[in-house]
Amino acid sequence: MKERYTDSLTGTLALAVFTAALGSLQFGYSLGVINAPQKIIENHYARALGVSLERSRMLENSTDLLEEPKDPSVVMYWSLSVAIFSIGGMVSSFLVGFIADLRGRVKGMLMVNFLAIIAGLLMGLCKMWMPHIMVIMGRAVMGFYCGLTSGLVPMYIGEIAPKAYRGALGTLHQLAIVTGILLSQVIGLDFVLGNDEMWPLLLGLSGAPAILQSLLLPLCPESPRYLYILLGKEQEAKKSLLRLKGPCDTTSDLEEMKREKEEAAKEPKVSIRSLIFSSVYRQQLIVALMMHLSQQLSGINAIFYYSTSIFEQAGVSQPIYATIGVGVINTIFTMVVFFLRIGDANTYKIFNYSFCHPEMFFSPQLDLPWMSYVSMVAIFLFVSFFEIGPGPIPWFIVAEIFSQGPRPAAIALAGCCNWTSNFIIALTFPYIQALMGCYVFILFAALLLCFTLFIYFRVPETKGKTFEEIAAIFQKKRPMAKHSTELDQLKTSTDA
Ligand code: GLC
Repeated sequence: MKERYTDSLTGTLALAVFTAALGSLQFGYSLGVINAPQKIIENHYARALGVSLERSRMLENSTDLLEEPKDPSVVMYWSLSVAIFSIGGMVSSFLVGFIADLRGRVKGMLMVNFLAIIAGLLMGLCKMWMPHIMVIMGRAVMGFYCGLTSGLVPMYIGEIAPKAYRGALGTLHQLAIVTGILLSQVIGLDFVLGNDEMWPLLLGLSGAPAILQSLLLPLCPESPRYLYILLGKEQEAKKSLLRLKGPCDTTSDLEEMKREKEEAAKEPKVSIRSLIFSSVYRQQLIVALMMHLSQQLSGINAIFYYSTSIFEQAGVSQPIYATIGVGVINTIFTMVVFFLRIGDANTYKIFNYSFCHPEMFFSPQLDLPWMSYVSMVAIFLFVSFFEIGPGPIPWFIVAEIFSQGPRPAAIALAGCCNWTSNFIIALTFPYIQALMGCYVFILFAALLLCFTLFIYFRVPETKGKTFEEIAAIFQKKRPMAKHSTELDQLKTSTDA
């Protein structure tokens, strides 16, 4: 058969990527949904906890999102509702490798969907019994689900994408996240679902994409890499490749996987513990963790969790709409990366450079009428730079720079690093802001400068390269003899 369409986008590939990305949409929705209805939900908690009506009214009339409601139990239950999501993600990100290898990537995504549906039901039906407890339980389960999905989706997409499209298709994970955030901001407006009547539905809807994904997943082919490299099923891997790529000669793909399998046979299946302690993969691991740290410690989620109050303080008259503006810009720039297919390590380097928090150049204290516009433009610029570089790339680069043996453990560690730093920012930003005012962005800019220097010198270009070629770049940085000895040691320690 003549080699045709080898690297083209087929309907099945598009369906598989779309279906997987529904998990990322759900992740984005859950990230953004808690922002807008904060005051309404706090008010509800206050009533459920029997806090006096006077206090409830005080909460209702409060205009500053950072101003703490006076009743400490409401504050505690609210903070827990927000933070427990990241805690769920931190815990479950360790299980990504286990779930992915248990029954395969597709069945793994299918299995974990029941968590999202349970979480949606807990939140959607929360008015029936102790809403604060139901919401906290729902957010914990949803965070646990999102920790798994934020690893499984990039892993599946990375494994099925033809190498020419790997960056662009990898960006779809991020595109779905930002679309989810935007969707939750729009649906969260008070005249849609962000009101006293409908807020449980607003939270409960975060489980809806899981239902659609469960219907579509049985139509998606399993990852050929999983079938061939992990299970040794060459014929099934070939069938899967043909479904994904259309009629074509699969010889070169199978040969590439064969070489990867041979390499994988030489290296042990790496556990999280041995990945941390072995020096064999240290270069790759440091690169992966630094990229995830630079994504989160850039302060992006300080904007996504607290933009309304940041705009309010900067004197923007309609902060909720400015927040939606952030969501729109965020989505547009992620689309630009996707359509121009510029999601790669070099773009990251350039945009992390220019990515120096323009917000730090404005000061709301100046009290000039046009300063609020400057602050809005500054935040829009920051988000645009973020989405061209540090937004999408860390999510898929980890699957690219690790070979099959250590890949699941590496994705788990990188995911945990991402969720932990996300949690730290969510929890500490209001306090740091209270201490430093708008100069908090100087702190983020300084951190970014350090990450930028590291990434500029240490991250290799991966675009258009096979997994083998990428692994070779990292090995070249290490003396070959040393590499083989350490690999043998790692194998002995894993076998023992
Ligand atoms: C990335 C980050 C996520 C952030 C989002 C914003 O996906 O991992 O934490 O909220 O970008 O677009």
